[in-house]
Amino acid sequence: MTDRFLHIEGVTHKRENVTVLRNLDLSTNAKRIGVVGRNGSGKSSLARLLVGLEAPTAGTIRVFGGDVTADRAFALKHVGIIFQNPDQQIIFPTVGEEIRFGVENLGQGKDAAHQTALRILSNFGAAGWIDKPIYTLSHGQKHLVCLMAILAMQPKFIVLDEPYSGLDIPTAGRMRKLLNGLDQHIMLISHNPGEFEGFEEIIWIEEGALHEHGPCDEVLPGYVTAMQEQVDQC
Ligand SMILES: Nc1ncnc2c1ncn2[C@@H]1O[C@H](COP(=O)(O)OP(=O)(O)O)[C@@H](O)[C@H]1O
Ligand SMILES: [Mg+2]
Repeated sequence: MTDRFLHIEGVTHKRENVTVLRNLDLSTNAKRIGVVGRNGSGKSSLARLLVGLEAPTAGTIRVFGGDVTADRAFALKHVGIIFQNPDQQIIFPTVGEEIRFGVENLGQGKDAAHQTALRILSNFGAAGWIDKPIYTLSHGQKHLVCLMAILAMQPKFIVLDEPYSGLDIPTAGRMRKLLNGLDQHIMLISHNPGEFEGFEEIIWIEEGALHEHGPCDEVLPGYVTAMQEQVDQC
C-alpha cells in the first residue's frame, strides 16, 4: 500500500546467531507511533534498522518509498534517530560543529551549514551555544543538541530511543513539548506507557516478534496489564 510512509516486510535480524527480531511485518502512516516491549525485546535493534545503521538479516524496510538498508544516502536524508545516550551520538567537541556536520553531509556548504546551525539554535532559545564545548552541557542539554542536529537535517521521520530516560522532570517536560510541536512522523521507543499521550498507534514487541500493533487505546491497556502482572509475580 503506497499510502503508508513505513513498510516493514519479513524482517528478521540475527546477531552472532541470536535472533533479535523475527519475521516482522507492519506498515503505518501514523504521525505518532509508540514502540513498547520489555528490556531486550528488540526495540533499539529495530530503531537501528529503520535508520539504516544495520542491515536486517532478511526482509526489507521502506520509508517514503526508499529502501533504507540499500540506500544509506536516502536514509540519512529522510530518517533521523536520537539515541538513548547522547554521549553515543555526539562526535564533535562543540555544539556548532555537531549541528553543522549533518547538514554538510547533506550537501550544504560551510557557510550555509553555519547559518542553519545558528537558525536552529535560536529557534530553541540557544543562540549563544554555537561555540559551546559539549563537555560543559548537562545530559538534558546534550539531548537537545542531538535533537537540534537531527532537526537541522529536516528528516520527515524521527526515531527516538528512550529519549526521556535520564532527564529530570522539567527537562523531560520541555523535550515532550518540543516533540509534540513537530510536524514529522515520530516513532517513540519507551517501556513507559505514560509517555504516549496523544499517540495514534502502538507497536508492542515481545522477544523480537510483533506481539500487537494497533491504535494506542487498544494496545496500551493490554501492555500495562501484562507489565503489572509481571510486577505482581515478583
Ligand atoms: N551489539 C550487540 N551484539 C549482540 N547482541 C546484542 C547487541 N545489542 C543488543 N543485543 C541483543 O539483542 C537483543 C535485543 O536488544 P535491544 O534491541 O537492545 O532491546 P531493547 O532495546 O528492547 O532493550 C537482546 O537480546 C540483546 O542482548
Ligand atoms: Mg533499547
